[in-house]
Amino acid sequence: MANPYLEGNYAPVTRELTEDHPLPVDGAIPPDLDGRLLRNGPNPAVVPADPDDYHWFAGDGMLHAVDLAGGRAVGYRNRWVRTRKLAAELGTLAPRGPVEPIDGPANTHVVHHAGRVLVLAESGLPHAISGDLERARLYDFDAMLTSPMTAHPKLDPATGQLVFFGYDVFGPPFLRLHVADPSGALVRSEEIDLPRAVMMHDFAVTASRVVFLDLPVEFDLDLAVTGRAMPFGWNPDAGARLGVLRRDGRGDDVRWFAVDPCFVFHVMNAFDDGDRIVVDVVRYERAFDAPPGGLIASAPPVLVRWTVDPSTGTITQDVLDDVPVEFPRVDDTLAGRPYRYGYCTVLDPGPTTGPGPTGSRGPAWDQSGLVKYDLVRHESERFDPGPDRSVSEPVFVRAHDGTGDDEGWVLATVYDRTSDTSDLVILDATSFSGPPVATVHLPARIPFGFHGSWFPSSV
Ligand SMILES: [Fe+2]
Repeated sequence: MANPYLEGNYAPVTRELTEDHPLPVDGAIPPDLDGRLLRNGPNPAVVPADPDDYHWFAGDGMLHAVDLAGGRAVGYRNRWVRTRKLAAELGTLAPRGPVEPIDGPANTHVVHHAGRVLVLAESGLPHAISGDLERARLYDFDAMLTSPMTAHPKLDPATGQLVFFGYDVFGPPFLRLHVADPSGALVRSEEIDLPRAVMMHDFAVTASRVVFLDLPVEFDLDLAVTGRAMPFGWNPDAGARLGVLRRDGRGDDVRWFAVDPCFVFHVMNAFDDGDRIVVDVVRYERAFDAPPGGLIASAPPVLVRWTVDPSTGTITQDVLDDVPVEFPRVDDTLAGRPYRYGYCTVLDPGPTTGPGPTGSRGPAWDQSGLVKYDLVRHESERFDPGPDRSVSEPVFVRAHDGTGDDEGWVLATVYDRTSDTSDLVILDATSFSGPPVATVHLPARIPFGFHGSWFPSSV
C-alpha cells in the first residue's frame, strides 16, 4: 500500500529555490506587512526503500520563506534545515559528528526569541538558523539545555520570557519546565515527576500558571526497539489529567486534576479567570490506537474549552463548535491573556486525496478552509479557498495601528490540486469570509506542513 504521506501535497519537494525578485500578486499586499512568513514542515530528503517505513512526523524539516515589503512580495526561498540527520542522509556528515537522538528532525515549528530564529521539533534540541536559511546549529541555551524542547514554547507578551517544556521518553524525569529570560538566557528549569513517558506536544501558559497535558498516549519501548518512527500507543486505562503549576512554583508543586481520556496536540490559548484557568484546546476522543506504531483519529477533533477550578478540583468541558478543526492560532500578543478571537484550519471529512491530519489511513480529511472564532459572541466565520484547494495553518499578524483584537491579517498557504501549485493568501481578519486582500503566486509547491511564524523585519 502506498504511503499517503508521500503522495499529493504531502509529497516532498526536491529542489531548493532562491527567488529574490518580485512575485506575481493578485490584489494589494498591505504595506504594514513588512517581514517574512516562515513555515516549517516535513520534507524527507531521502524516502525509505519501503514507503511504509516513512512517518510524516519524522521527515526532515524544510523551511519556506515568503518576504513581503513595501506592498510587494519580494522573494521566496526554501531550504532543508541543515541538521546532522540530513547530512547523514545525504552522505555529507563527516565533519559534523554522529547523529544523536536529541538532534531531532527540526520539522515542526519556527519561532523567534532574543534575536534568534529557532527551529523546533519536540524530540530534539532547537536549531538556530541564519537569516538566509543556509546554516543551522544545535542550540542548547549555552549548554543549559540537555534534553528535548517542545515545538510549542510560549512567549509571554508582558515579560518577554520564553516559557517551555520538554518531555523525555528514555528515562525520568519525563517532564521538565524551562524559562528563558528576555535576553535568551535559560534562567530556570524544574523537573516534574510523571509515572510514565507520554507524548506531550503542547501545553498552556497563563499570566500566572502553566498547565501540562498528561494524556494517555504512552511511549512504547517495544515499538521503539523495532525502529518505528513513532513508538507511541493509546492506553486510556492509564487515565488522563491536567497538571497546574504556578509559574514561580517548583516542580513538585504541580497539582493534578483528572479529565476524561482524550488526546490534544494543540492548545489555542489559555488565561486566568480569577483562581480558575480557562484552556481552549483541539480535542481528539482518542489517538495513536491503531495500527501498532501508527496513528489514528477515529473521530475528528473539535475545539473545546476546559475550565479548571483548583478550589474544587474539577474540570468543566464545553464543546465550542462541532466543526472539525486543527492548527489553532491566536494573536500572539494576547498569548496567555483573555482573548476574543481564534483561527483554525477546517478539516472536511469529505472526499480528498490526503490522509487524516493525525495519520489515519482510514477516513480522509481535507484541510478545506479556515475558521475565525468569536469566543465572546459565540460566532464563527469561514474562509473558503475555492474548489480543489486546501489551506495551511493560519498565522495572525496584528496591524501596527490596530485597536480591535482582530485588526490585522491572517496569512496561510493554499494548495491547488488542479494546478499542483501553491499561493500565499492574505486575509483581512476583520473581513474574514471575504476574498483575500492579496494572493501571492508562489514559484514552488509548499507541501502540507505544521507551523510557522511571522517575522517582522524589525526583529
Ligand atoms: Fe504542533
